Amino acid sequence: MSVFKSFVPKTAGLFGLLFFLFTSSAAIAQQGRTVADFDKGWHFHLGDVTGGEKASVSDANWRLLNLPHDWSIEGKFSKDNPATPEGGALPGGIGWYRKTFTVPTASKGKLVYIDFDGVYQKSDVWINGHHLGFRPNGYISFRYELTPYLNFGGKNTISVKVDNSVQPNSRWYSGSGIYRNVWLVTTNKVAIDHWGTYVTTPEVSQQEAKINLQVKVKNKDGASAITIKTVLYDAAGKAIAGAGAIVAKANEGDSVINAGQVFILKKPILWSVNNPYQYKLVTQVVKNAKVLDEYTTPVGIRYFNFDADKGFSLNGQPMKILGVCDHHDLGSLGAAVNTRALERQLQMLKAMGCNGIRTSHNPPAPELLDLCDKMGFIVMDEAFDCWEWKKATFDYHLYFKEWHKKDLEDQVLRDRNHPSVMIWSIGNEIPQQGDTSALRIAPELAGIVHSLDKTRPITTANDRPDTSNKIIKSGAIDLIGYNYHEFDYAKFHDRYPGKKFIATETTSGLETRGHYDMPSDSIRVWPSRYDKPFTDGNPDNSVSAYDNVRPAWGSTHEATWKVMKKYDFLSGMFIWTGFDYLGEPTPYSWPSRSSYFGIIDLAGFPKDVFYMYQSEWTNKTVLHIFPHWNWQVGKTVDIWAYYNHADEVELYLNGKSVGIKKKTGDDLHVMWRLKYEPGTLKAVSRKNGKVVLTQVIHTAGKPAKIELIADRKNIKANGSDLSFITVKILDKDGNVVPDANNLVNFKINGDAFIAGVDNGDPVSHDSFKVNYRKAFNGLALAIVQAKEKAGIVTFSATSKGLLPAVITIQTKH
Ligand code: GAL
Repeated sequence: MSVFKSFVPKTAGLFGLLFFLFTSSAAIAQQGRTVADFDKGWHFHLGDVTGGEKASVSDANWRLLNLPHDWSIEGKFSKDNPATPEGGALPGGIGWYRKTFTVPTASKGKLVYIDFDGVYQKSDVWINGHHLGFRPNGYISFRYELTPYLNFGGKNTISVKVDNSVQPNSRWYSGSGIYRNVWLVTTNKVAIDHWGTYVTTPEVSQQEAKINLQVKVKNKDGASAITIKTVLYDAAGKAIAGAGAIVAKANEGDSVINAGQVFILKKPILWSVNNPYQYKLVTQVVKNAKVLDEYTTPVGIRYFNFDADKGFSLNGQPMKILGVCDHHDLGSLGAAVNTRALERQLQMLKAMGCNGIRTSHNPPAPELLDLCDKMGFIVMDEAFDCWEWKKATFDYHLYFKEWHKKDLEDQVLRDRNHPSVMIWSIGNEIPQQGDTSALRIAPELAGIVHSLDKTRPITTANDRPDTSNKIIKSGAIDLIGYNYHEFDYAKFHDRYPGKKFIATETTSGLETRGHYDMPSDSIRVWPSRYDKPFTDGNPDNSVSAYDNVRPAWGSTHEATWKVMKKYDFLSGMFIWTGFDYLGEPTPYSWPSRSSYFGIIDLAGFPKDVFYMYQSEWTNKTVLHIFPHWNWQVGKTVDIWAYYNHADEVELYLNGKSVGIKKKTGDDLHVMWRLKYEPGTLKAVSRKNGKVVLTQVIHTAGKPAKIELIADRKNIKANGSDLSFITVKILDKDGNVVPDANNLVNFKINGDAFIAGVDNGDPVSHDSFKVNYRKAFNGLALAIVQAKEKAGIVTFSATSKGLLPAVITIQTKH
């Protein structure tokens, strides 16, 4: 397959775009760069292959697939898998990938690279049998140059060995394989280098912004004089300013040309979380009036500050970072990155009022940062979960000494142009906090970051944020990061006079969506990370969803937020976690295999506490009462309401008022305690006596029918777009049956397939990659992925004894 026929321009810029739209002639392609989507048509073999890189070893019987791919998510859960339940209990192993492709003769004289956004882990890459390199870090992006080893005009084979056999090597589910995108980049001999631009906005006001651009051009063409021109475009694509073209003279033997350009922009539109406005800089490298390269750098113009007393401000406006921590897995899709799945997560978090993401505890997929730029999230971009001392037996500590410099540099070079990135974290809960080696390592890491970017503060996430902490003592970090210890926040300035604070990690509330234990008003604490799992937990490994269960080091959502609200100097927080993730099933262990920490479950269904945040963090008018109304007659049941924009909530049971409740002091919810009788619960919120919102919950009858709700009914026929279909089990009157666990079978017709199924149950061992799912507490999820042909997709759901349901989804070009 010719790589020049199927490419998708990524950073080709305006010039490149015109080229792609109007011509397919490879001759013109040679004037600039092409960034080809290289995800399609890989052969995969699970297991080791001796000489897998050699042409003599055939891949004819290997499975054909498209990347991104995570083989672990296709496997079977077992407590005996080396990942352990802490790592998601799915298999690891060794896998081989191969792709054969043609490079046109016309590309001779050009430079060709392969870019991997992430391979988990310990990858070896060969081109035509030549070993290009080994990369142990499974979360880092990397490039190899292919040029010297290519057959121009002929066939070429890339082979990749991935070794995730020795586990545990992350404290959460990692996934296995080439789980992020791969690109084939072709440039001229004189071209902007890999991650070769760096944009900063050193002076910004409402009146004027100064934009600095540094450009690094790789010159493999010997002596030549080149011109580097850059034009600034607004979001509508209008050229608004050009930097004086810089004539950069390369001397013989020069391999790198660095150029600096400055733009002054009047009345800039600033990037913010509510208006994430982006400009772009399009840089051309020109020689003898010929454009040799073109490269687009997105720009968000903003300024921010962390103040020791006043906390965080963005563009001069005080605000708190209201963030969540998330791991990288996408539930039933595993670690295989999918832009729409990421976007859906961010949309849900936005709806909750969240404005920050911590990429715990590793560099994220580049698509996540692109989305954060576009959607307005503040990112804490984290590098490591350990340094030289281990946390999981075979984790990155084995590679830290040899690789930390390269990995950290690559992370900063890749991510430093993202306006969303505002904090670098060089480590999470590093065991060496208590050891003098931190006095050496922390300054070294901070130095690496600051040598490449001085515009953002550096932090570490400290679980021992006391004054004996050697990382803090080293003076290397700009923001003192607290993991938990919210009871100590008030003493921060006594401990660290004049220092700046960030709550790098908070909360760790535990909940199972839709499960409620009574009473709700006593806090249950799981004693310690090192203890045996909950001995007095529920036999089905469920955890009550009243925001009253937490591990010893954590706190409930409400307790944390109450403290966080109180003090201005607390610049922000990152809650553990936004979404449930695979692995770390605290407070249980096997048979549980995924976490209980999320505000939203693994399938993407919000737990009740989502609405507490929504009532506090957004302007949306909220009234949310829970639990469901299906209990044993006479049982004492607590009913909670989260609400805002109202003075009071009145609750009615079967038409009779059971009382008006008002939040007082720092309350974040109100509660009624009732003896259950079936019927209808109705809550009414009122302000100045006027009804604001009403919510009704009926006792549900037996499961009678299925309802299907697609988040999007029109999706792109691009091979990767997704429609997330919520499956509800309803009684005959349309109420969700809160404990329904019916097995639902799915059928799909048309050019799409089921990419994953789930129900949010952390204990289920059913495969994510089948066409059926049991409901869990009334809900299940099916994810439909488009193929590349446009058309109508019919998705239907059946279940024994229930009325079936069907919906159609349109896929379009
Ligand atoms: C933190 C840690 C996280 C996660 C969390 C669970 O201490 O940084 O990675 O393990 O605990 O509560």
